[in-house]
Amino acid sequence: MSNRYYSSLTKKYIMALMGLFLFTFLVVHLSINLLLVFDPTRVLFNEAAHFMGTNPFIQIFQWVLFAGFAIHIFYGVVLQIQNWIARGKGYKRKALSEESIFSKYMIYTGIVIFIFLVIHLGNFFVLKMQGRVPEFEHTANAGMEDMGLLVVNLFKNGGYVIFYVILLLIMGFHLDHAFQSAFQSIGWNHRKYTPFIKGLGHFLAIVLTAGFIIIPVIIYYR
Ligand code: HEM
Repeated sequence: MSNRYYSSLTKKYIMALMGLFLFTFLVVHLSINLLLVFDPTRVLFNEAAHFMGTNPFIQIFQWVLFAGFAIHIFYGVVLQIQNWIARGKGYKRKALSEESIFSKYMIYTGIVIFIFLVIHLGNFFVLKMQGRVPEFEHTANAGMEDMGLLVVNLFKNGGYVIFYVILLLIMGFHLDHAFQSAFQSIGWNHRKYTPFIKGLGHFLAIVLTAGFIIIPVIIYYR
């Protein structure tokens, strides 16, 4: 087997690990965001956001997270281009077998998520970096940023709600295939456990997608 084959396996392996790491981020991110739904006063959400924004460990972790996104996206694009080139050269069988692991829509849903991420960071993260988040007026929390107000203001705009819902559905398709695909890429294929992993992947994709979608919808109608 060629070096190229091994290097493509290594890229898939790293990409899979980064992808699973991003799943854990989404679970934490969703849990914190849901506080806005359960607590309309925004106290709990702002306290959690304040903790995430000031804890030194999490501040370092944030850059690890961005690196995780960058590596996952970079290898995803490289592998997809290699796959297209292989197909162009007539390596039909290789291209087909790779396609079963690397489903043909992942690159497109991935690109859409990337565009979403750029807009999303512009909606919140960039404003925070620029110190443009209003102060939280809750008496017990003087000096704390009101990140929750930014979210609420954004989702009072119907256009943004529709944009987020559509983009989150596309993310759901990506996640639905991603989980089981990551386990295949790291070589965890087992007659007994693979069906369970596939089921867990569907479950996580549905819970994460539905969980994120209810946030803009509930805020809009509240
Ligand atoms: C309804 C859905 C969502 C809401 C309300 C939301 C809200 C937020 C907010 C308020 C921040 C800024 C946090 C801070 O800096 O204090 C943020 C950051 C971020 N979001 Fe989201 N988010 C949503 C969905 C997503 C999704 C689906 C992804 C991934 C594809 C994502 C990825 C990120 C990343 C990477 C950051 C920057 C890191 C961080 O500050 O934690 N978000 N989001």
